[in-house]
Amino acid sequence: PDRYCVIGNPIAHSRSPRIHTLFAQLTGQALVYEAELVALDGFDAAVQQLVQAGTRGMNVTVPFKLEAAGLADSCSDRVQRAGAANTLVVGADGRIHADNTDGLGLVADIVRNAGVPLAGQRVLLLGAGGAAAGALAPLIAEAPALLVVCNRTHAKAQHLVDLHADLVQGASTQLQAMEADALAGPFDVVINATASSLQGAAIPVPGALLRPDALAYDTMYGPAAEPFLQWARQHGATGRDGLGMLVEQAAEAFALWRGVRPPSQPVLAQLRSELA
Ligand code: ATR
Repeated sequence: PDRYCVIGNPIAHSRSPRIHTLFAQLTGQALVYEAELVALDGFDAAVQQLVQAGTRGMNVTVPFKLEAAGLADSCSDRVQRAGAANTLVVGADGRIHADNTDGLGLVADIVRNAGVPLAGQRVLLLGAGGAAAGALAPLIAEAPALLVVCNRTHAKAQHLVDLHADLVQGASTQLQAMEADALAGPFDVVINATASSLQGAAIPVPGALLRPDALAYDTMYGPAAEPFLQWARQHGATGRDGLGMLVEQAAEAFALWRGVRPPSQPVLAQLRSELA
């Protein structure tokens, strides 16, 4: 069977082997998918070794997404803009193509699974690191009325917006970088793509920015998402963690590798029950 893996450091916690194994079962595809722990300074060498050993595709997670974009022989427009890749496709000739399915997964989980349309909505994206960067182009593609990027380090948010400015030219979406104290609500959807929860820091924007019943989405899941989701509920919003995003980004990667779209809903339900 063809070989695939997820590369990261740390990697023991990764749910990707479970998800892709379920996808393979549900689609009748014969493949092996494993987790590879790679030394912090050993990403390049590890990828070359895996390619030589016949690996057909890789998912890339923290902290290697930027390096993955740099090492590829070719990359998608999404990767070029985000500067980050989470999926590598290895051709028959060993050439590596990089894509980023994180933002596609985020949008699929919000629009399809949560049933919240983004078209015409006011959306606030918190963060300007790798997670936020991957989300921007797919969010713009949904044609929100307003998309504001807000980050502790404002210059990074501005840079990200500048890199995507041409995507909203002549379109109905207004794309802006704003400092936290300049934000004016209400927002229909607020997406937390910062690492603030992990560090036990406060939510970086006031709860009054959420319209009643807004969707407050954390790109993380498990305990890391809890502070943001609690904050959201306290302010009358609906909270949703990033487990669905994880499953959907995996489904997009699986489709790139195998040319078959796996059913994501039963896999998300299965993961929820396993994590409960
Ligand atoms: P990732 O790839 O997960 O996005 P990252 O690239 O390190 O990780 O980005 C982390 C994001 O969380 C950044 O937007 C960061 O803000 P800065 O650009 O100002 O560093 C944000 N972040 C991390 N800790 C934070 C905190 N305590 N409060 C607010 N934002 C925080």
